[in-house]
Amino acid sequence: MTEAQRREYEGCLIRHARKSDLREVYLIEIKSFPYPYPVESLATLLLLFPKYFFVAECSSRVVGYVAGALNKDGSGHIMSIAVLPAYRGRGLGSRLMDAIENAFRKDGISRVYLEVSQNNKVALNLYRKRRFKVISVRTGYYPDGSDAYIMFKEIRD
Ligand SMILES: CC(C)(COP(=O)(O)OP(=O)(O)OC[C@H]1O[C@@H](n2cnc3c(N)ncnc32)[C@H](O)[C@@H]1OP(=O)(O)O)[C@@H](O)C(=O)NCCC(=O)NCCS
Repeated sequence: MTEAQRREYEGCLIRHARKSDLREVYLIEIKSFPYPYPVESLATLLLLFPKYFFVAECSSRVVGYVAGALNKDGSGHIMSIAVLPAYRGRGLGSRLMDAIENAFRKDGISRVYLEVSQNNKVALNLYRKRRFKVISVRTGYYPDGSDAYIMFKEIRD
């Protein structure tokens, strides 16, 4: 990491998302996923679950986000997380996960689920490191017919 990158990274903050962030969040989404969420879906997540939608901001630029939701049974669901390619590998994904897990915990939500592509080794590493466990496979989950792992974590104080 260069000195300039180190200074920029140290200046990054994790904060709740605002409606005005959605355009940048959508740009991150399309740079990160073969099948991005439409911007309307991101806007709906922000409208319904603002407490569980965070962005990483570096030098006034939104470079990462995580969005969560509540399942009908009251458990938490991590719907999506992504960091712009140039900002990956510097701990921002972990900080975003800290933020959403803490927000769930604060609301007394102790069970958290997410889906991840079986081929997404980086994300699997991130989640396994945070003690998410694969509990089942959802066949044909992605538009190309590939399967997803469903992962689960019990979070406690
Ligand atoms: C997954 C993603 C959000 C991680 O963000 P990040 O800011 O790079 O993550 P961090 O720097 O905090 O790294 C956290 C952990 O992820 C794993 N990881 C990160 N980069 C990795 C790489 N290049 N290779 C393997 N594992 C990696 C490691 O376990 C790492 O922990 P460590 O640094 O202690 O080894 C990011 O890679 C991304 O946006 N990917 C595209 C979108 C995506 O796949 N989202 C997940 C959908 S389920």
